Amino acid sequence: MTVTDGHSSDSDILGRSDVNDVDAILEICAANTDVDEVEHLVADNSDAMFTWNYEKGERPKLEKLYEKAKTAQWNAEVDLDWSIDVDPYEAFSIMGELGPETGWTTEPDSPIYGWGDKEMREFSYESFSWRLSQFLHGEQGALLCTAKIVETVPFYDAKLYASTQVMDEARHVEVFAKYLDTKVENTYPINAHLKLLLDDIINDSRWDMTYLGMQIMVEGLALAAFGFMHNLVEEPLLKKLLRYVMSDEARHVAFGVLSLQEVYQGLGQAEIRERQEFAFEAAVRMRDRFLQQEVWERMGVPIKPMVDRILDLPEEQKIFQAMLFSKIVPNIKKLGLLDAGDGWLRDRFTEIGVIQFEDWTDTSEEYGDFSIENAG
Ligand SMILES: [Fe+2]
Ligand SMILES: [Fe+2]
Repeated sequence: MTVTDGHSSDSDILGRSDVNDVDAILEICAANTDVDEVEHLVADNSDAMFTWNYEKGERPKLEKLYEKAKTAQWNAEVDLDWSIDVDPYEAFSIMGELGPETGWTTEPDSPIYGWGDKEMREFSYESFSWRLSQFLHGEQGALLCTAKIVETVPFYDAKLYASTQVMDEARHVEVFAKYLDTKVENTYPINAHLKLLLDDIINDSRWDMTYLGMQIMVEGLALAAFGFMHNLVEEPLLKKLLRYVMSDEARHVAFGVLSLQEVYQGLGQAEIRERQEFAFEAAVRMRDRFLQQEVWERMGVPIKPMVDRILDLPEEQKIFQAMLFSKIVPNIKKLGLLDAGDGWLRDRFTEIGVIQFEDWTDTSEEYGDFSIENAG
């Protein structure tokens, strides 16, 4: 696509001119050669900001969120029963693209032709480990981003609230790391697309971009993904763990919406455009990460034909991928980014098949429903 109505081209935003260019998608993975690194440095390019305005409650909705967070803390060591035995091969077996309706195991030209129960069981385990590993890495991204927000956000109520989110994220990193280590015993390094996105978010010097990238996009997607897994999983430890994490996560997404709403009302057209492009870039990076390239590689499946097939699935079979955007789209609409300017972002969300969620409830209206008291 070329430059449209003043927007940057896809090449500028994504580094490729076709959103579904499989070679370019896989190139990003291939460029990630340092999979064994233990430390990863990213310049965060921001000034820390003090405020001498200590007027608590100037932003009542943020103050309410802060008060709620103070009483909603939980302790991963005490509140979860780690003595539960887990069979990681059975805990979460979602076949997704491999479901019998696609017929992929019986089509001779399919990369997984001939797969039987043994391969399916192995895939189920690898895919489960992969999903949880990406959750873990994303949680660390949230920990770092929110620590940055404490420093950079100008509003006092937001600084106070963000400090509670830092503690929440520490707890989330703790629980996913412990579950992977003691129950699954198999981990994956960070996915290249997720890494690129987290680097971009932290690298940006503008304080609202940390929120837009993390609270709105990454955490909005995480809230939907955790909900999806929570609904399907029966293993009681993970089910409770996910429900507890979701109770915090809903607050975090609401924090993003409530903080950015007033800021975006005051931005000019060019600045809004940059935010729309950033949101679109994040959406595509997150969609690309769910192609599970690393799992196919570990299973010995040729990656390109497999990813080609997944991207070519008819819309009705991409429901899981689309559902991941069920929180993001209404929140983006609430922030005014969906239709601002020429409605460019609406067109792009239509193109990637997620616009149908625009009128779902936004998270600033529903976060209370996720409280631990309502967990049942
Ligand atoms: Fe989190
Ligand atoms: Fe979070």
